[in-house]
Amino acid sequence: MGGPSVAAFRRKREVVVAMTKVLIACDHGGLELKVQLVGDLASWGHEVLDLGVHSSESVNYPDLALKLCRSLVAGEGELGVLVCGTGIGMSIAANKVSGVRAALVGDCYSARMAREHNNANVVCLGGRVLGPDRAGAVLKAFMEARFEGGRHQRRLDIIASVEAEA
Ligand code: RB5
Repeated sequence: MGGPSVAAFRRKREVVVAMTKVLIACDHGGLELKVQLVGDLASWGHEVLDLGVHSSESVNYPDLALKLCRSLVAGEGELGVLVCGTGIGMSIAANKVSGVRAALVGDCYSARMAREHNNANVVCLGGRVLGPDRAGAVLKAFMEARFEGGRHQRRLDIIASVEAEA
């Protein structure tokens, strides 16, 4: 008696999750999955800014990774999603941008850890690796997790100090 109902808790949690502005981009290898994920993110209540590409014409994945990451560190979004064939090239390029912590993930546990422990602000997914259901579940796990801080912040500070040196 007196405490919030389960339904009220769920409603509150949905409101928190709905606050996120998400940037998303892909190359030709990630286009099909990106189209799906734009819909998934919107259906979960997020604000989505799609930075391209919008056709299957061959492009260079670093151009898209850098475009998204520069927008992200400029404050145009809170989280980023990058999709290429494997997610590997996007993650390598994304982590060259100071302030970006990009995680290449293919399972829900790693997706959750990427935020809880690593405070990842960009998730990279492989459009030729993950099926649509797995990719949606992985992204959902990433979106719903929260950074735990504490000892994990200390470790991120070490990484940030290397960025500062550069
Ligand atoms: C493009 O063919 C492919 O190399 C790219 O999508 C990505 O997988 C690179 O890491």
